[in-house]
Amino acid sequence: MSAPALDTRPGSGVSLAAFVGDDDTTAKLNNIANFHWPGAVINRGGCHDAGTYLKSAASPDLLVVDLGESENPFEDLQPLAELCDPSTQVIAMGVVNDLALYKQFINAGVADYLVKPLSEEDLETALLAATFSDVTSGEKSTNEPSGKIVVTIGARGGVGASTVALNGAWLLAEEMGHKVALVDLDLQFGTAALSLDLVPSTGMIETLRQPDRMDSLFMQSAVLPKTEHLSVLAAEEDLARQLDLHGEGIGRLVEELRSNFDWVWLDLPRSLCHLHTTVLRDAAHVQVVSDLTLAGMRDTMRIVNLFSNIGGDGEIGVIINHARRNKGMPKGEFTRGVGCQVYAQLPDEPKALQAATVGKPLAQSTAKGKFITELRKVTADIAPTVKEPKRGLFSSRKAK
Ligand SMILES: Nc1ncnc2c1ncn2[C@@H]1O[C@H](COP(=O)(O)OP(=O)(O)OP(=O)(O)O)[C@@H](O)[C@H]1O
Ligand SMILES: [Mg+2]
Repeated sequence: MSAPALDTRPGSGVSLAAFVGDDDTTAKLNNIANFHWPGAVINRGGCHDAGTYLKSAASPDLLVVDLGESENPFEDLQPLAELCDPSTQVIAMGVVNDLALYKQFINAGVADYLVKPLSEEDLETALLAATFSDVTSGEKSTNEPSGKIVVTIGARGGVGASTVALNGAWLLAEEMGHKVALVDLDLQFGTAALSLDLVPSTGMIETLRQPDRMDSLFMQSAVLPKTEHLSVLAAEEDLARQLDLHGEGIGRLVEELRSNFDWVWLDLPRSLCHLHTTVLRDAAHVQVVSDLTLAGMRDTMRIVNLFSNIGGDGEIGVIINHARRNKGMPKGEFTRGVGCQVYAQLPDEPKALQAATVGKPLAQSTAKGKFITELRKVTADIAPTVKEPKRGLFSSRKAK
């Protein structure tokens, strides 16, 4: 037994009921319960028995249900949702080793799905993790940074991802009143600072490589305020440098920003997909920008698959842009192929985009144009307009 005993004495508020179908798991559970949950109810059985128990007893804090005998484990677990208190942490177990089933359980709110046979350590770890996530969930939510993440990523080069990110962030900040940080993660070739007439931040690479240096002083100097609501993080790193970006530094940066802004909008070069667990997985919205080409369709699908495989639970969709740059494929065929929703198809507006003077995004210079009108609808689906934007650490700085 590796972990220290939990306080699960009567009255401590942590109770366990388990319905398990085999001797081996029952014996291991009994060992664990003797140590952590002396008052636990551990019965031989499965889903049906758990249902019968819940009809006559109070819902426990932790419920373990063995679905090893079930032909349709996910469907069979459903009736318990009606009988369980919402605060009960449910751990399902079974014999089907399938990622899709696991994700189905997790998305439905099950704390964990374990595949038998199980070692005592694995079982203990899962039970404690579920218990602690329940016990500490209140604390966690207050400590977690509250800002949400939007990621814009181009399925192909030059499809307009940075144009979408810049204008989307502008609309969310300036028209809808949210406090937004736009982060251009293309640290060598990015255009966010240039388009908004800002002097790029320096020292970003050093700090991203040594995340411990990412204190509020660095943030104050690196974050470039453009307007009262929109700030930008962008660099123009030396082209001769190899950047070697790692998840830890970017993760720290995003976390800092999330504590200070309502929204962190990341313009993510597709070559940085390896940062998926740090930036993609936690995104509330992922916009994949693509043209109507076969390569665009293939790479949109690959990004959508990556997002789903890493367990991203935000929304993902494609924005079609530059559709007329070359003939491409019919929209219907593209839409069927990509396997995700189409947020919008933006019109080609070369004149407006060319005319957009440096320092002014299209959302400001041609606010009534078709491109921005379409993008405005996409942005309005991300968050409702607020009247009084929240203020944070960086809001007191004067806009340039
Ligand atoms: N709908 C559009 N109509 C006309 N021009 C557009 C449109 N969308 C983007 N552009 C233009 O296409 C060029 C490339 O756009 P942008 O830099 O946003 O693409 P990107 O996908 O970020 O490129 P990169 O792969 O280099 O990061 C820019 O000059 C931009 O003004
Ligand atoms: Mg770009």
